[in-house]
Amino acid sequence: MLRKVWAGTAVGLLALSLAACNNSDTGGDGGDAGSGNEPIVLGFSQVGAESGWRTANTTSIKESAAEAGIELKFDDAQGKQENQITAIRNFIQQKVDVIAFSPKVETGFETVLKEAKDAGIPVILTDRAVDTQDKTLYKSFLGSDFVKEGRLSGEWLVNEMKSATGDVNIVELQGTTGSAPANDRKKGFAEAIAKDPKLKVIASQSGDFTRAGGKQVMEQFVKANPKIDVLFAHNDDMGLGALEAITAAGKVPGKDIKIITIDAVKDGMQALADGKFNFIAECSPLLGPQLMELVKKVNKGESVPARIETQETTFTQEQAKAALPTRKY
Ligand code: AHR
Repeated sequence: MLRKVWAGTAVGLLALSLAACNNSDTGGDGGDAGSGNEPIVLGFSQVGAESGWRTANTTSIKESAAEAGIELKFDDAQGKQENQITAIRNFIQQKVDVIAFSPKVETGFETVLKEAKDAGIPVILTDRAVDTQDKTLYKSFLGSDFVKEGRLSGEWLVNEMKSATGDVNIVELQGTTGSAPANDRKKGFAEAIAKDPKLKVIASQSGDFTRAGGKQVMEQFVKANPKIDVLFAHNDDMGLGALEAITAAGKVPGKDIKIITIDAVKDGMQALADGKFNFIAECSPLLGPQLMELVKKVNKGESVPARIETQETTFTQEQAKAALPTRKY
């Protein structure tokens, strides 16, 4: 009888020590927040759900946090900067371990970022940058080179139009006013097309990165301008919305009006493969896995690169046809 009790106790102790080993493995990976085995708590403020890109980005962040064993407090700001500032203040009050966010616009975050720094909570910028004097207010910025995306779009057009005669009239659908991708894509595109004086931007307005915005602004563009040769849309969604306005005006998208967009989400790639778009510069929304690696590092106090640039490519119609079957988003 006594022997049986000892044997039971030994099995129990072995099970306990194995469980402890397993927990510390998890802790070293994702759950290293405090002295115990509790998971890292990440507060993430998302801009909203304005586009297919944004939806894919939200999915990537949620799935990657779950895989990494990181507890995610996710807030959707519904397109409002003031909601992002409130969410960040809430994260500070809740004493999360790390804050990450995709800032709607470049300016106006300095005060709240200083509050996070004073509270000792590291901040990681994802997708979009902020324009602050003090670069120590955040640890790292993970995201695309938006100027490059605009430049690649413009360079494609310069080459495409090299043998065209007469003025090439371009209309531009800008992203959200004041946002990094809208500012930077406009800049990169303008720099590239400046090499050919016959390429002229005759109208440029914000469609706020949405399909509805793209459709509405393109309707105004086609009404006001009898000759439009090219549309440069700062994202696929606005380009997709514009397709409806172009067709309703009796023009053939991709032929009468050449269309260049940015993102390469599935619907955009389908439009490109179908010949309705002509060129897409990719902007990857799959930032989740890299973000979680950064979160673990800054939580441990390790140094991280100030800038991590996403690897991206471009697509022509033929390349879109080949890439579509395996496209993840
Ligand atoms: O910041 C990334 C941009 O935001 C994407 O290109 C656009 O689709 C999104 O809304």
